[in-house]
Amino acid sequence: MNTLDKFNLRDTLAIITGGAGLLGRQHTEALLDAGSSVIVLDNSSKNIKSLETSLGSHNNLHTFKIDITDEKAVLKLKNTIKKRFHNYPSVLINNAAIDPKVSGDNVESGSFESFKIDTLYQEISVGLVGAVICTKIFGNDMAKNKGGVILNISSDLGLIAPNQEIYENSYKPVSYSIIKHGIIGLTKYTSTYWAREGVRCNALAPGGMKNDQSDKFISKIEKLIPMNRMANQDEYKATIVYMCSDASSYMNGAVVAIDGGRTSW
Ligand SMILES: NC(=O)c1ccc[n+]([C@@H]2O[C@H](COP(=O)([O-])OP(=O)(O)OC[C@H]3O[C@@H](n4cnc5c(N)ncnc54)[C@H](O)[C@@H]3O)[C@@H](O)[C@H]2O)c1
Repeated sequence: MNTLDKFNLRDTLAIITGGAGLLGRQHTEALLDAGSSVIVLDNSSKNIKSLETSLGSHNNLHTFKIDITDEKAVLKLKNTIKKRFHNYPSVLINNAAIDPKVSGDNVESGSFESFKIDTLYQEISVGLVGAVICTKIFGNDMAKNKGGVILNISSDLGLIAPNQEIYENSYKPVSYSIIKHGIIGLTKYTSTYWAREGVRCNALAPGGMKNDQSDKFISKIEKLIPMNRMANQDEYKATIVYMCSDASSYMNGAVVAIDGGRTSW
């Protein structure tokens, strides 16, 4: 097979959790570009509407408003998908997470001293339990069908501790470190569990993406990154296609950091 053909995702059905969010929509666009049909699971009507508006009426885009922490709802949806698409999803991107804002307006302090345990439960229920539910339900089908790829979205903060000096009057909360490190544990577990059934599982650890952060925050974080800049919004797309396609057919249990070199320092 021609090398570039291995990146082709035509006839693939992919699921992306939180696929209508900031980074999720980049994953959605990337897989659509590679020819996949994409099913976005997101619990925000506002984000889904905005995604549909920006992508127009793309024939291969399908959105479902669902809370991925609700196992029964995800199971029901799996059956709906089977009936509607006559195909089973062979790609799952566990991307949804609550990414607490630590720059700009309306930020919570996030300090360890004032950290609310309820917040930990709430964030774990999406970023870890939600990923476990989707992996259990869709991964099981992939294993029965003898093939599939699961990609978990971690973070550079799944590999290193946050440098609290860059946040203005706030802290990156402990929950984020726990969840982003935890999803790497889920990745390694899953990568061995169904390996013989042809299901691969890897993690992507992206660095911070430029969005609406303050100039002060940007200049501080840039100093922590050897390439001296945050990621542009489209800079993970090609890696997403690579990690979800046959182009990465021997990659399993890997954690790929794309962070301008931040975790090398
Ligand atoms: N943005 C970055 O710079 C960055 C950097 C590294 C890693 N990440 C990781 O990328 C992922 C996406 O981050 P983002 O910045 O796009 O966040 P985001 O908040 O923009 O998107 C998250 C999406 O998940 C959805 N969601 C939340 N709870 C849900 C639930 N219970 N059920 C279904 N959907 C739910 C939200 O509605 C939202 O659309 C996260 O895992 C985050 O940790 C982001």
